[in-house]
Amino acid sequence: MKLLITAGPTREALDPVRFLSNRSSGKMGYALAEMAAAEGHNVTLVSGPVSLGVPQGVTLRRIESAEGMAMAVQSVCSADPPDIAIHAAAVADYRPRVRQGQKIKKGPDTLTLELERTTDVLGSMRSSYGFAGFLVGFAAETENLISNAMAKLRKKECDLVIANDVSRTDTGFDSEENEVILCFPSGCTEPLPKQSKRELAREIIRRVVALATQKVRP
Ligand code: CTP
Repeated sequence: MKLLITAGPTREALDPVRFLSNRSSGKMGYALAEMAAAEGHNVTLVSGPVSLGVPQGVTLRRIESAEGMAMAVQSVCSADPPDIAIHAAAVADYRPRVRQGQKIKKGPDTLTLELERTTDVLGSMRSSYGFAGFLVGFAAETENLISNAMAKLRKKECDLVIANDVSRTDTGFDSEENEVILCFPSGCTEPLPKQSKRELAREIIRRVVALATQKVRP
């Protein structure tokens, strides 16, 4: 099968030397790409800046910003539509409204930044990019894990949302392990036990491929 996987953080430039970003290491997305390629699938990985090696057999497209990610994902969806798309990237929701051409100089004691919304890449898959395959999102939450994840699943028209509690320090962002709950459109949920991101990735890829194979589209 053909898979599109997004991974890592994005960087939203303030000026030539500064940006807004987040704590995503990219490990979960890279592990998914590695396991999918190891299972013989054709994988395109669209990745924000991370310090990880490119998994063997994976086609990598590097991006910096949320808009870069949106453009790369849209071009993959139109040029060579994937069967499965898994959005593991931690895409910035806001970017500075103005990117200063020169380094911002120190001034008064306080500085107010004006931010504007970025494109919701996962949320654009069905509505704007014409994606009709099996769509998987992640939901990084610090509270109300299941209800927030289910709301994202419906809003972004996903077939599966993988929910993780990023308020925990032993799992989630930048850790080696992760513990997630699978959330389905039926309202059913299924926890997957805490394990290494690579083991978890193998399990997720096997399940997603099986579900995508079963899915009968109208
Ligand atoms: N996502 C995306 N583009 C964005 C923001 C998020 O594609 N601009 C995707 C992520 O890759 C993830 C899912 O949407 O698969 C949920 O991301 P998350 O940060 O948990 O939620 P948001 O939609 O940003 O909502 P909120 O920040 O309000 O919780």
